[in-house]
Amino acid sequence: MVSKKLEKYKDYFKGKTYNITTFGCQMNEHDSERISYILEDLGYVYEEDRKKADFILFNTCLVRENAELKLYGQVSSLKKIKESHPEKIIAVSGCMMQTEVARQVIIDKHREVDIIFGTKNINSLSDLIFRYLETGERVVDISTDNVKDDFVKYNTPNHFQAYVNIMTGCDNFCSYCIVPESRGREESRRPSSIIEEVEYLVNQGYKEITLLGQNVNSYGNKADFNHTFPELLEKVAQIPNLKRLRFTTSHPKDLSDELIKVIKRNDNICKYFHLPLQSGSDKVLKDMNRKYTQEKYLERARKLKEEIPEIAISTDIIVGYPTETEEDFEQTLKVCKEVGYDTAFTFKYSPRPKTRAAKLTPIDDDIVQARFDKLLDLLYPIFNEKNQTYIGKTVEVLLESESKNNPEVLTGRTDDYKLVHVKADKSLIGEFVKVKITGNTSFTISGDLVE
Ligand code: 5AD
Ligand code: SF4
Repeated sequence: MVSKKLEKYKDYFKGKTYNITTFGCQMNEHDSERISYILEDLGYVYEEDRKKADFILFNTCLVRENAELKLYGQVSSLKKIKESHPEKIIAVSGCMMQTEVARQVIIDKHREVDIIFGTKNINSLSDLIFRYLETGERVVDISTDNVKDDFVKYNTPNHFQAYVNIMTGCDNFCSYCIVPESRGREESRRPSSIIEEVEYLVNQGYKEITLLGQNVNSYGNKADFNHTFPELLEKVAQIPNLKRLRFTTSHPKDLSDELIKVIKRNDNICKYFHLPLQSGSDKVLKDMNRKYTQEKYLERARKLKEEIPEIAISTDIIVGYPTETEEDFEQTLKVCKEVGYDTAFTFKYSPRPKTRAAKLTPIDDDIVQARFDKLLDLLYPIFNEKNQTYIGKTVEVLLESESKNNPEVLTGRTDDYKLVHVKADKSLIGEFVKVKITGNTSFTISGDLVE
């Protein structure tokens, strides 16, 4: 079907360009990689300047309100361009489109959008474009059924790093979170299919693979195959020539001793663990439906460090959940001091439609801002102190790209996910190099290449 249509529109796609703006998490990044593969397969070529592109897509996120508002602003800014260039195609996809309220805003208020599709309709994108070209009418395609996305094709950010989906959706229903609504129920991919995909990538020369899921620790829980996440992780780690293996995200309630052992005994599993705390207060954690206490969280973090002393730990923290008091917030600060995070992603609570927490009265903005500032004042010196310990050490770095501010400087990551700046020739991008660390900030370490 697609190939017949493609034959008909072959000339149409000649010289046509596309641009994708991606909001949100790595799952969305990976979805955009699938979308760009499909577009390039049709004949589109990437255009960096969004306004110049013939096919303009926004892959959206709904996890916090600011991403949502930014999207409406960016789509509106294309109204005039669409008026003067009606031949351009504007499309919106992703989590916002999967959620009725946000989708309706685009449908009702943004006539400039031609194609609307959800996270489970990516495979149909070519058909949606053909349908639009044939009718000139807006096309909307949203499905809620999980699709068996075994071994789908996608572009990768470069020739040495790739994301691999191991599961979709989430069943945890944290009270503040829209993901279970936007991404649907949890479903795990078969281990054989995942392993086949990673083997393929490694044979193509990929060096670093990141396994993706909303909560990788519950991998396989509901599946008809008998495989836990630690078992899967170890099998993937044993694929010959895989240099680095990462995974994200882990829910602390399901972090098992077995997983810690697997990370410890496989050299190519990176010694970096993202362990979202959200809050340090038992009361707030209960209100959030997180299913762990401060004590359980600290015990897991301690165990990680005892077993793997070199491990770096990062976290997500939400400040100003509606039931958070000053004392509750102090508990969050206490956990931050005790764990000594290497880095943290900090968010002000944002009410999301249809979540349980959205029914609660939010805390005053001023109070939330003051707590947020206090949290950063505590965290930045901790990150700085951690990074200082690298000075004088020689670390192995996978060089990823030119630094945005200075093309003579390249950036890369260590095994434990430290962002490294080093002067080096860009021909070394994609290579492992040794760097002697001489300086640091709260967010980076920097140094010189060791010959
Ligand atoms: N408000 C603020 N932060 C949120 N997150 C998820 N939902 C919300 C919300 N409603 C944060 C959590 C999660 C990260 C991906 O985003 O910290 O771990
Ligand atoms: Fe959202 Fe909680 Fe699921 Fe993470 S585990 S995606 S925070 S519901």
